[in-house]
Amino acid sequence: MNDQTALITGASSGIGFELARCFARDDYRVVLVARHLDELKEAARLLHQEFRSVDIVLLPFDLSHPESADQIYAETNQRGFQVDALVNDAGFGETGYFTNTDMQTELDMIQVNAASLVHLTKLYLRDMVERNSGRILQLGSIASFSPSPCQAVYAATKAFVLSFTEAVQHELKQQKSAVTMTILCPPPTDTNFFQVAHAENTRAAQHPASARDVAQEGYDALMDGAARSLPTISAKFNFFSSLVLPDSMLATLMNTQLHAAHK
Ligand SMILES: NC(=O)c1ccc[n+]([C@@H]2O[C@H](COP(=O)([O-])OP(=O)(O)OC[C@H]3O[C@@H](n4cnc5c(N)ncnc54)[C@H](OP(=O)(O)O)[C@@H]3O)[C@@H](O)[C@H]2O)c1
Repeated sequence: MNDQTALITGASSGIGFELARCFARDDYRVVLVARHLDELKEAARLLHQEFRSVDIVLLPFDLSHPESADQIYAETNQRGFQVDALVNDAGFGETGYFTNTDMQTELDMIQVNAASLVHLTKLYLRDMVERNSGRILQLGSIASFSPSPCQAVYAATKAFVLSFTEAVQHELKQQKSAVTMTILCPPPTDTNFFQVAHAENTRAAQHPASARDVAQEGYDALMDGAARSLPTISAKFNFFSSLVLPDSMLATLMNTQLHAAHK
């Protein structure tokens, strides 16, 4: 063990699981957070199979509950863990006209994708700044860069994550802190995301990137202390488009991605 601990939310599947793999490979103790204990256990089994000596701790928490962040922080403190790396990966989307989608699902989405991310960041970043060491990876998306008709609330949460991350990155520089914060903005990626978001048939879901490749790029950027990670040409295209195109045009481009592929 390298004596360092990484706490990864959303670690039971997809990009979060692959990020947990990266930390396990580098001998971190990994603290895995997600709602379903069975899926966390399966993730732990796979990690143990590949990295025999990895120390794995499972914390089944629902981040749509506002009290979960405090409870997770209390749990890691009680176990005496210093969290050296925090990955706020847990998140989900929903697809459809805002007038048709379910309000509670979207309020939960705001809590998981944005509010709990801010809350966990507040708790662990304060300790990191005090120690003058630590790294945080925030999960944005290409949706961080433009309004997304038919995923209006999801994209808004990801735009929030981008704005929040860039502001705190600036503050950390002003404070001359060695702590770094990185935002990973994946393109469509082959995970459970599209199924959960009811978007399997959209154009965006047709040629997804590999979760392993996306996670590796994000992990490398985190370890380099980079401000952002834009895996694949498609993520870079979305980022650079957002620098030059008006939001109305970006929204039109995103809208075509969220149409059914067969139309
Ligand atoms: N896949 C893409 O195309 C894509 C593109 C850009 C950004 N992203 C972002 O990448 C992140 C990971 O998503 P993914 O693509 O890897 O999807 P995924 O395979 O569905 O993974 C989502 C993870 O979040 C956990 N989770 C969901 N709701 C939660 C809750 N209420 N409390 C705690 N954990 C919760 C899930 O476990 P449980 O269900 O057991 O809780 C799972 O571990 C998300 O933030 C997503 O927005 C994905």
